[in-house]
Amino acid sequence: MKGIILAGGTGSRLFPITIAVSKQLLPVYDKPMIYYPLSVLMLAGIKDILFITTPHDQESFKKLLGDGSHIGCNFEYEIQDEPNGLAEAFIIGEKFIGKDKVALVLGDNIFYGNEFGKLLRSKTDVKGASIFAYPVKDPQRYGVVEFDKNKKAISIEEKPDRPKSQYAVPGLYFYDNKVIEYAKKVRPSARGEKEISSLNKIYLEKGELEVGVMTRGMTWFDTGTVESLDDASEFIRVLQNRQSTMIGNIEEVAFQRNMIELEDLKKSSERYGKSKYGQYLKEIASMGLSK
Ligand code: DAU
Repeated sequence: MKGIILAGGTGSRLFPITIAVSKQLLPVYDKPMIYYPLSVLMLAGIKDILFITTPHDQESFKKLLGDGSHIGCNFEYEIQDEPNGLAEAFIIGEKFIGKDKVALVLGDNIFYGNEFGKLLRSKTDVKGASIFAYPVKDPQRYGVVEFDKNKKAISIEEKPDRPKSQYAVPGLYFYDNKVIEYAKKVRPSARGEKEISSLNKIYLEKGELEVGVMTRGMTWFDTGTVESLDDASEFIRVLQNRQSTMIGNIEEVAFQRNMIELEDLKKSSERYGKSKYGQYLKEIASMGLSK
């Protein structure tokens, strides 16, 4: 399975913060936002990853992440000229996806939870599409999925004024190869975007959509507003300092998943200088295992 991280968009809800800097490179506590969704794909065991960015931000992402070989991955980069919607990722990424299945994660979504890696790895052999539902207080901000009494998904709507349920669809999606063909069928919505919800609706109508409810053990943030960005930072700060383990440390995940050797880990830690992030990697390397 291949992976796509969508890290374009204008970030206009965070202006002036994101006028000169990509939203997905902003700090979420002690590391760039993009580290979190990247670690999610790596936890799923995905190594071939495409970053889709705006034309002017591509260089910064390349500077930060390179070709991925230092963490046992292969990174590629593509540009989205205009924020035409999330479903466009599969058209831009058509060549990259080739004949494979593909996971999409939004560059501003953060996940944390018990046994999350196992859950992710169970999705990589998806038939049709597999998405999640997460109960929230403000579903009108998201794609919303409605279930019947047997917990079968029966509708999906993008940012409905009157949501039919509390279940938001987080920005993490697994698709078979038909996603390329289906994405081409998606027409722009009233707000002018090729919506991921329209794409998921195609799978739903064909009876090929699986929706897994994320339970209390899972935490999901999207960092689209100043408040949610701040909440996510605070969450990561509190959890990391309490448990003395890190969330979204991509080198640790690479080491844990046997994607790099101890020597590579030691080398990577040098890059982060005297920062806490670097110190943490040095600790892991000196123990020879991850926390
Ligand atoms: O966070 C989950 C939600 O993400 C889903 O519940 C919704 O169904 C989905 O449409 C999306 O809603 P948002 O309104 O939060 O999407 P936003 O425009 O903020 O874009 C999400 C990320 O994708 C963000 O990191 C920017 C990037 N993006 C967005 C668009 C529209 C792109 O890279 N290209 C785009 O064309």
